[in-house]
Amino acid sequence: MAIDRFGRRIHYLRISLTDHCNLRCVYCMPEDQTFRPNAELMQDDEVLMLVRLFAGLGFDKFRLTGGEPTVRAHIVKLVHDIAETPGVKYLSMTTNGVLLKKLAYPLREAGLQRVNVSIDTLNSERFRRLTRWGTLDDVLGGIETAEAAGLTPIKLNAVVVRGYNEQDIVDLAALTIDKPWQMRFIEMMPFAGATELQLKQVVTADEIRSQIESEFGPLEEANNGELDGEARMYHIQGAAGEIGIISSVSAPFCAQCTRARLTADGRLRLCLLREGEVDLLTPLRAGASLDDLRQIIIDGIWQKPWGHGLADGLIPLNRVMSEIGG
Ligand code: 5AD
Ligand code: SF4
Repeated sequence: MAIDRFGRRIHYLRISLTDHCNLRCVYCMPEDQTFRPNAELMQDDEVLMLVRLFAGLGFDKFRLTGGEPTVRAHIVKLVHDIAETPGVKYLSMTTNGVLLKKLAYPLREAGLQRVNVSIDTLNSERFRRLTRWGTLDDVLGGIETAEAAGLTPIKLNAVVVRGYNEQDIVDLAALTIDKPWQMRFIEMMPFAGATELQLKQVVTADEIRSQIESEFGPLEEANNGELDGEARMYHIQGAAGEIGIISSVSAPFCAQCTRARLTADGRLRLCLLREGEVDLLTPLRAGASLDDLRQIIIDGIWQKPWGHGLADGLIPLNRVMSEIGG
């Protein structure tokens, strides 16, 4: 079992399968972002080896992220092999949805259980402006296909950026009235890559909530007031779905953290918003034994920091979001 020095049991691993992406969202990366050469990324057998190690340490929940995980070659086979690994109980993916029309059924058949799809607006012009390269209809079609394929319950993510999509909060929230979806609003977080915009154009969780309430009336607390992952859960009265609000910046949830991350280049990232990492891929490639690697992971988890330092102005600048996977 992997426990940190604050007694938190860490059993949820988020794996960035690639830093590459087929979109260029303004809050994530610059349009001219350069990516790592393939050889620097974990290869399929290396991902599997690490998944086996983490599962052996009691990790039971795995999420595949990116960049965009679906642009990785052989993604369906890789999902299949991860899903088959003993100890992997929950397996989900965070995706921009662009390729889901094609991939939702094969991924479901391979053993993927759920997807979180990013959708920041329902207006196609604003969608293009925010993602720079995206087409809204591809993503809407992707969400429908994911639902039909049984990658449910569907969770949707929107990062709210002032000047881009704060006028879309109400429309996105309204999706939950008829659909049994979870619509999650995310406070923008600062990283390398787009730091100016990230710092200047944040819309806080409080503002998101009050916009929704001014349209639909008071939100009711859902999930018995418990967090779902990192989201505080609500619903609009009488709605089929739920609304989640993720306040990483204004109200951190670090005390309940159960997660660790694997970056696309095989580093164990201890906190999304702290620079500290432990290299796993280099020792793995150098022929370290499984016992050695296991010990490196256990020692790394023990050192997991209590929480982030955004309130003190500490912004993680060693990586862009797409290498860590959110
Ligand atoms: N702040 C918050 N969330 C972000 N994401 C990407 N960049 C940021 C940021 N600066 C989110 C995406 C997606 C997930 C991969 O991370 O919207 O849901
Ligand atoms: Fe790609 Fe997701 Fe970053 Fe947008 S937020 S550029 S979809 S990795």
